[in-house]
Amino acid sequence: MSTPDRREAVAIGEKAPLDSPVSSYNEWDPLEEVIVGIVDDASFPTWHMSLPSVLPEGQVETFRSQAGRPFPPHQVEAARRELEEFVRILEGEGVTVRRPEPIAQRQVYSTLDWASTGLYAAMPRDALLVVGTEIIECPMAWRSRYYESLAYRPLLKEYFQGGAKWSAGPKPELTDEQFDQTWTDPGEDDPPRLVVTEFEPTFDAADFTRCGRDIIAQRSNVTNEFGIEWLRRQLGDEYRVHVLEFKDSHPMHIDATLVPMAPGKLLIHPERVPEVPELFKSWDVMTAPTPVIPDGHPLYMTSKWLNMNILMLDHERVVVERQDEPMIEAVRKFGFTPIPCDFRNFNSFGGSFHCATLDVRRRGTLESYF
Ligand code: ALA
Repeated sequence: MSTPDRREAVAIGEKAPLDSPVSSYNEWDPLEEVIVGIVDDASFPTWHMSLPSVLPEGQVETFRSQAGRPFPPHQVEAARRELEEFVRILEGEGVTVRRPEPIAQRQVYSTLDWASTGLYAAMPRDALLVVGTEIIECPMAWRSRYYESLAYRPLLKEYFQGGAKWSAGPKPELTDEQFDQTWTDPGEDDPPRLVVTEFEPTFDAADFTRCGRDIIAQRSNVTNEFGIEWLRRQLGDEYRVHVLEFKDSHPMHIDATLVPMAPGKLLIHPERVPEVPELFKSWDVMTAPTPVIPDGHPLYMTSKWLNMNILMLDHERVVVERQDEPMIEAVRKFGFTPIPCDFRNFNSFGGSFHCATLDVRRRGTLESYF
């Protein structure tokens, strides 16, 4: 393709121009380097009224009663083992894997207005957004995630020294004005009633999915219009940020709803996406098969649709959960090569392969796919 090489030279002071170690424009170009999260110290966060807007039924009481305590150690240990296996698989496929540094999650921290403990550094996809050669620390809406990006600071510094552009959203105040104090649960079949207000910009990176010049976003219980507009201006004219609406009464994170797998290939949730968005009308569409996670398996923070939360290694290879045979078969039929990895225990903590990773570098250029 005719676009110039993505690695525009970046000069720092008098030093020679550097290639950027951060460079990723979409969800499917060949993956060269990825950050994989860690479950060290994973803990139920300090209770906050924004949590019920996204917690699955039955978890609200658990989060209230366990606030500030560690997640069950045997579950954390099982998730850690699966993460190690995931890392081995990625390395075996030729991908460089980087890990965050553990930070204390149960230490109380405070601002002028509130105090909280943390959650984990398991889901780099939520806290950091890579668009091209820029890596952005997100202004996250959960008080328990206020300092989460510190776990990635050693990597961020290294990437910056190597030539990446490093930025951060305006540090949010997360005072009570940021949350709708009158929020009540809308119920599964109702339109969403978002707990986050428009007081200040907040967003999680996982509410965005990247298709080159076009970035698809959703408003959610952590991502507001203010946050999306901040990102739009930060990225500038080279990118078009499209805000789509889905049939999801408790939205948080787009990557179990609408998953672009390769140019012209889209994976969608059967109910949340009742109609293929106009932008994707010319794409081949696969509806996700019903997930097979048993009812008794703990899922603290999400639905079972984590089976859609896959990681593309390139236009063909895709990491999928080993026990989810319907999804393995479906992606094969859709023209991809599935790479199975056990991840059900990790799923308990609110994500799967896409959430657990941040693609730092994919070999490719900035393109238009629409
Ligand atoms: N919020 C998404 C779900 O629960 C990830 O399916």
